[in-house]
Amino acid sequence: MSEKVNGKIEYVVTLKDISLRYRGEKGEVAALKDVNLNIKEGEFICVLGPSGCGKSTLLKIIAGFLQPSEGVSEMDANPINGPDWHRGVVFQSPTLYPWLNIYDNVAFGLKMRKFSKGEIEELTNKYLELVGLKGFEKHKPYELSGGMRQRASLARVLVNKPRMILMDEPFGALDALTRQNMQTLIRTIWTKTENTVFLITHDVDEALSLATRVIVMSSRPGRIIKEFNTGFTYCIYGESHEEVRGKVEYMSIRDEILKIINNQTEEIFIK
Ligand SMILES: Nc1ncnc2c1ncn2[C@@H]1O[C@H](COP(=O)(O)OP(=O)(O)O)[C@@H](O)[C@H]1O
Ligand SMILES: [Mg+2]
Repeated sequence: MSEKVNGKIEYVVTLKDISLRYRGEKGEVAALKDVNLNIKEGEFICVLGPSGCGKSTLLKIIAGFLQPSEGVSEMDANPINGPDWHRGVVFQSPTLYPWLNIYDNVAFGLKMRKFSKGEIEELTNKYLELVGLKGFEKHKPYELSGGMRQRASLARVLVNKPRMILMDEPFGALDALTRQNMQTLIRTIWTKTENTVFLITHDVDEALSLATRVIVMSSRPGRIIKEFNTGFTYCIYGESHEEVRGKVEYMSIRDEILKIINNQTEEIFIK
């Protein structure tokens, strides 16, 4: 349960003793076991772990797409019963309607929620501008590059002003340069909107350059085995990526995380 501090709820999301088992044709698959996680307002959490360890499953529980087999998942001290716009999700492949132009894709959620025409225009333009897509309103998704499509997906989520943004390897399909630009964009958005972010990645450098807390998971069934509070994201501006990555403190945390993940991956092969 979320603790109340000065009458205010301390955590945006609380996961208590979460386990999840999938029922497949060949029996049960234990994807998560005893996961405990409290997410504070404004945190930028990055999740790392071996492939198949349950990262996406964890995100889907927070999003409300899946109900845990055991345990409690809450947002603002209320049970998470299903998806809603308070928790906006960005996947690896952009989720846009191919038949709608970029403006209508971004405005879609607001139209569904019956916002007035004026509000829809104001918010849609604001977030298209924030993600750098002004001038592309009339383009169809297929006319844009992968990075631009992902920015449109992001605007589509942001326009609803969610309390939390959940991202599942959102930049995994992009080339290295676009990826770095997207990291800069998401950091700027996080700073400007003071949003709470939960981002899954398989890239340790991406995690360390964005997160205020890095969470490392064990191999399946996924548990949280180590957490690191970090502040490198505050030191990175423009071209300073390489400088930060050369710091002794950065390299030592990076090595430690890689060792943990490699040990977990070896266990999978030995089992
Ligand atoms: N719908 C499903 N039915 C059965 N097993 C699943 C299902 N979805 C995922 N799994 C299994 O659960 C484990 C965790 O999956 P997932 O959360 O996608 O891992 P990750 O995102 O860390 O790669 C994997 O072994 C995967 O094969
Ligand atoms: Mg996954």
